[in-house]
Amino acid sequence: MTKPRLFSGMQPSADSLQIGNYIGALMQWRGMQDDYDAFFTVVDLHAITVPQDPARLREKTRRTAAQYIAAGVEPSRSTLYVQSQVPAHAELAWILSTITGFGEASRMTQFKDKSQRYGSDQTSVGLFTYPVLMAADILLFQAEAVPVGDDQKQHVELTRNLAERFNSRFGETFTVPKPVIQGETARIYDLQEPTAKMSKSADSQAGVLYLLDDINVTAKKVMRAVTDSEGVVRYDRAEKPGVSNLLTIYAALSGREISSIEDEYAGRGYGDFKKGLRDVIVAEFEPVRARALELLEDTAELDRVLSANADRASEAAEETLSAVYERVGLLRRG
Ligand code: TRP
Repeated sequence: MTKPRLFSGMQPSADSLQIGNYIGALMQWRGMQDDYDAFFTVVDLHAITVPQDPARLREKTRRTAAQYIAAGVEPSRSTLYVQSQVPAHAELAWILSTITGFGEASRMTQFKDKSQRYGSDQTSVGLFTYPVLMAADILLFQAEAVPVGDDQKQHVELTRNLAERFNSRFGETFTVPKPVIQGETARIYDLQEPTAKMSKSADSQAGVLYLLDDINVTAKKVMRAVTDSEGVVRYDRAEKPGVSNLLTIYAALSGREISSIEDEYAGRGYGDFKKGLRDVIVAEFEPVRARALELLEDTAELDRVLSANADRASEAAEETLSAVYERVGLLRRG
C-alpha cells in the first residue's frame, strides 16, 4: 500500500534551530516518517524573500539540513532536500501565481506584518508571492498532510483554495492538503519572557535555547528561566506562564504527562525542578548537537546526500508539473 504524502519545510534562517523548532517541528516530523511518504525541505527560495548574505545563506542551509538529520529525520526513509535544487518549485509557483487573486494575496497577514516590519523599500514582490511558492511546495508532491505552526495556517488555507480552483478550472490535478497544526503542548515560549513565543529574533538571547549551543550555555539558561513567587510546580498558563512553559518542555522531551511531573516535584522548590529539566534537555540535545556537528565536518558527504534526495524529489515533482503544463495548455517540447 502506498503511504499518504506529507510535506513540510523550514527556512534556513539561523545557524541553529531553537527548542521551539525542535519540539514543534522536528520531533513531530521524526514521528511521522513511518506513516507518511514524507518530504522535508530546507526552503532557501523562501529565505531570499528578505535580504541574505550569500555565503551565510549557504552555510545556514547546510546547518539546517544537518539538524534535520541529527534530530532523526532520515534521508533514507524520508526525502530531505534543498528547495532550490528542485526547479519545479519555482515553475509551479509561476503557474499558481496566475490563478491567485491580487486581493487574495494581499490578505495574507504574515505579508502584512513582514512588509510593515521591513518597510516598503525592503518589501519585494517575492515576499508578496511567498505564500504562492509555499502552495507550490505542497501541491507539487500531492501532499495530504502539512504539519505547520499556527502562523502558517492561513498559507495552507490559500493552498487549499488554489488547489480547488485549479482542479475545477482545469480538471482534477491536485490533492487538496490539510494542515496538521501543532497543539498548545508543542508551543514553546521565551524562558525570560514566557508570554512571547520563543524566537531567535528576541531582544535578549537569554531566554532562547539553541540546539547547537554549547551544552553549558543551555544549562545556565534553563537554571535562570523566569518562574514566579508561588513556589509550586503547577501548570497554569494564565497565572504561571514561566513554570507552565518549563513543564511543557519537560513533558514534550520526556514523553511524560504534565500531571506526573507536577506530582514528582510536589513539595519541592523550583531549583530542583529546573535541575530535573536541565538534565532532560541536556540528555536530549547532547547527541543531536554532536551528530549535527559531525555531519557539518564533512560537507561534501552532506551535499551528496542532499543532492541524491533532490533527485528523488525532482522525480516526484516532475510528474505533477508535467500534468499541470498539459492541463494549462502549454505546448510541450517533443
Ligand atoms: N513558510 C513556512 C514557515 O515559515 C515554511 C514553509 C515553506 C513551509 N514551504 C512550506 C511549511 C510548505 C510547510 C509546507 O514556517
